[in-house]
Amino acid sequence: MFGVCYYPEHWPESQWNQDATMMADLGLTYVRIGEFAWSRIEPSPGQYTFDWLDTAIATLNSAGLKVVMCTPTATPPKWLIDSYPEILPVDLETGQTRGFGSRRHYDFSSAVYLRESLRITEVLARRYGDQDGVVGWQTDNELCCHDTALSGSKVAQQAFQDWCRQRYVDINQLNTDWGNVFWSMEYRDFREIDLPILAVTETNPAHRLAYRRFSSDQVIKYHNPMVEMIRAHAPGKFITHNFIPMNETAVDNFALAAPLDFTSYDNYPLGRTDLLLTGAPTEELRRYMRTGHPDFATYYHDQTRGLLNRGFWVMEQQPGPVNWANNNPRPAPGMIRFWTLEAFAHGADCVCYFRWRQAPFAQEQMHAGLLRPDNSKTEAWPEAEQAMAEVALLDIRNQPLQAASVAIVTGVEGQWVSDIEKQGEAYDFNNVQLSYYSALRELGVNVDFIAVDGDFSPYKLIIAPSLPIISERFIEKCKASTAQFIFGPRAGAKTSEFSYPTNLPPGLLQKLIPIRVLSVETLRADCHEGLSWNNHQYQSGSWCEQLDAGDTEVVARYDNSEPAIVRQDRFTYMGTLTNKEFLGDFFQQQCLDAQIKTYHFGEDIRVSQRGNLLFAFNYSDQPQNLPLDPEAKLLLGNKTIEPHGVTVWQAP
Ligand code: GAL
Repeated sequence: MFGVCYYPEHWPESQWNQDATMMADLGLTYVRIGEFAWSRIEPSPGQYTFDWLDTAIATLNSAGLKVVMCTPTATPPKWLIDSYPEILPVDLETGQTRGFGSRRHYDFSSAVYLRESLRITEVLARRYGDQDGVVGWQTDNELCCHDTALSGSKVAQQAFQDWCRQRYVDINQLNTDWGNVFWSMEYRDFREIDLPILAVTETNPAHRLAYRRFSSDQVIKYHNPMVEMIRAHAPGKFITHNFIPMNETAVDNFALAAPLDFTSYDNYPLGRTDLLLTGAPTEELRRYMRTGHPDFATYYHDQTRGLLNRGFWVMEQQPGPVNWANNNPRPAPGMIRFWTLEAFAHGADCVCYFRWRQAPFAQEQMHAGLLRPDNSKTEAWPEAEQAMAEVALLDIRNQPLQAASVAIVTGVEGQWVSDIEKQGEAYDFNNVQLSYYSALRELGVNVDFIAVDGDFSPYKLIIAPSLPIISERFIEKCKASTAQFIFGPRAGAKTSEFSYPTNLPPGLLQKLIPIRVLSVETLRADCHEGLSWNNHQYQSGSWCEQLDAGDTEVVARYDNSEPAIVRQDRFTYMGTLTNKEFLGDFFQQQCLDAQIKTYHFGEDIRVSQRGNLLFAFNYSDQPQNLPLDPEAKLLLGNKTIEPHGVTVWQAP
């Protein structure tokens, strides 16, 4: 199914009917509205103007379109901010209040804002909750985007003190857990606790970890009642949220997703590629600047699906150049159709394009839509049409979700630890996780993302790229599973209160692999050392641990012949980051051993499976020959896959 993001409040009412007719003619089913419309819904305190919204919904419904209504809480209006300036968040770097004039200008710890958010949510849910034409709801918009999970405000500080009191009960416990004797940081009372910001130099990592945990909890405490409020007045309607990635929210997205019916993701492959490849060699960026990097979109699709382990929506799909990356190229011809099919192949149930028509005013006037401001159709239009026809032809939505044999265990604590304790500039949680994912995807295996407390039973191979804090329960789950496990460096390296395990890293993981990390060196990204595995030479670098391998089997060695990767039974520990070639070859071998089928069709081809359908996506601008079985039954495209093309065949 397909949809679009629409802002009736941006256009004269006289235009709505034609818009709705065109949407329906295009074949769209859903229209998402309202997420930034608070100033039009409630222009002054308590004065609601629903006429326009009623008419907009009725117009869309009469054309046969279904409405997804949003809470407008991402943009509190001026009068609300002026009445309660404490709603505004405070910047961590400067201690200055972040002002009105854009969006997401609210503090998750503001009790006033929670009250006001629930009030406007209730008003909307009461009015539209039981309307047939309003079929579902989106909460807020991209929670925590623009670095808003953390705030340095007074209300945040007070809430943090309360949170600490609840967690540690006794201030001496907190002092001990955090190691506050160091640098005379001891507190006498919870009310003395500052936020770990604006200090002269580094603040205590345990303090910062607690602040991250607290801030994540605050976001969930803000969001959950909103979901409950909608549920109470809109029974039977779905509730979703359009997530941004967990490494960007800095929040436990698994917990945030828990009360929702399904998760959604906003897919901007070119903007993300531009940002993620900032600083990469020119040729690497140029190669993918109009297609997106082959793994950046699906990396987030797979994570979004994994939050609830069910089909997800792409709530916003890039239709042309965006306005917010460093540089904003046009997609190569065919990419809108390509990204759309790719999303469905990775478990999407619906793709909505952002936005219907390019706005000729305000912040996003350089952002493309399906239509230009003069109502002419952009290149995205025929491509969306083509994608819709093909999704119907392949009956993709009725295919069950992909059944992955490989899972990546992930969690926000890995991100927090990597942010808080850099140690080496080349170690970054997201890059590490992405490099492991990318190596697996180049082998054409489906990958699920699961939480540490997720279900391990479906998988043959479970990989934990960066899991610095682990629990006894996790260890028990690993023991109970039959999968092969691979742990990246830094696994188990911290206690839950961010200290060094006294039995040395990998801490609790020693129960699975009895080794000790004797020291850690970090190296500049371009200063690698050698790594030998399987009679081949590869690179080790960035993060290299000196291991006491005990009686474990040494799988790979550094140049100086010290152990770099070790194994005990089903458990492998990698003491170092490596190059891409190593990950590719190593994972290929693991898949072979675990009898996991791979489709390694080249650097720019990605193979994905959904139900009985196998998809190949060609990210290169050259045709490529797919080494398919002669009997493979082609359902779309050819064995010679076109540049930026898609080929689909029946799974054997
Ligand atoms: C998204 C956001 C939209 C719009 C879009 C532009 O992150 O949810 O409101 O700003 O980016 O690409």
